[in-house]
Amino acid sequence: MKRLEKVYEGKAKILYATEDPDLMIQFFKDDASAFDGVKKGTIVDKGVINNQVSNRVYQYLEEKGIKTHLVEPVNDRETIVKKLDIIPVEVVLRNVAAGSLCKRLGVEEGREFDPPILEFFYKNDDLHDPLINDCHAVTFGWATQEELDTLRELGRKVNTLMMEFFKERKIRLVDFKLEFGRHKGEILLGDEISPDGCRLWHWDTGEKMDKDRFRFSMGSVEEKYREVYSLVCSDPG
Ligand code: TMP
Ligand code: ASP
Repeated sequence: MKRLEKVYEGKAKILYATEDPDLMIQFFKDDASAFDGVKKGTIVDKGVINNQVSNRVYQYLEEKGIKTHLVEPVNDRETIVKKLDIIPVEVVLRNVAAGSLCKRLGVEEGREFDPPILEFFYKNDDLHDPLINDCHAVTFGWATQEELDTLRELGRKVNTLMMEFFKERKIRLVDFKLEFGRHKGEILLGDEISPDGCRLWHWDTGEKMDKDRFRFSMGSVEEKYREVYSLVCSDPG
């Protein structure tokens, strides 16, 4: 499938049109940003790693009955995906306290949640992706109540499946962010699932293997992304 004009460029990915109006090509860049674009940099080969990690996770989720935008990879950095009308509500699932939740609620990092915590954020960099509830999303027309109910149900299902997937690969799934979109009357999982949008701690050592290493200049960023790649993309024995 041929790549046509650029339709959208985000901080970490570019979307290109194809000859098929229902399909796009998603290109993964090495560009990294944090704190809503305030911190910028490059993580060498991040695009290659995130594309392949994300495809592996989506393939697994599809096998378990979750509908995603994944069609097929083009090469190491590019994947054909279904064109989505993205719902501007980010769905965050938290199994362990970390990140903004600790700051917002004064909770100590590392505390486990059972059941997991689900949060909605409004996808808007200028407003710094604020925490929202159903009333905001419905009143301002970002999603219908029925869609929010679906996002919640899918978010929890994906979390249960992903926790199992990562545990088998020696990774503790701390938290992550999902984006969904509309496609021909259905809601599909879109965007990506990679160390950019998940917190992943090594099951044995507790070492952080995700974008927090870049956010907080912890070093060994590329090395830890590569470790996630090998744990996720070589199947567990
Ligand atoms: P947070 O603790 O900063 O709210 O992030 C929760 C999870 O969501 C974490 O795994 C990182 C991910 N995330 C994104 O992928 N994009 C974002 O813009 C933000 C704020 C978080
Ligand atoms: N994804 C956001 C950014 O690129 C926030 C973050 O990941 O920290 O700025």
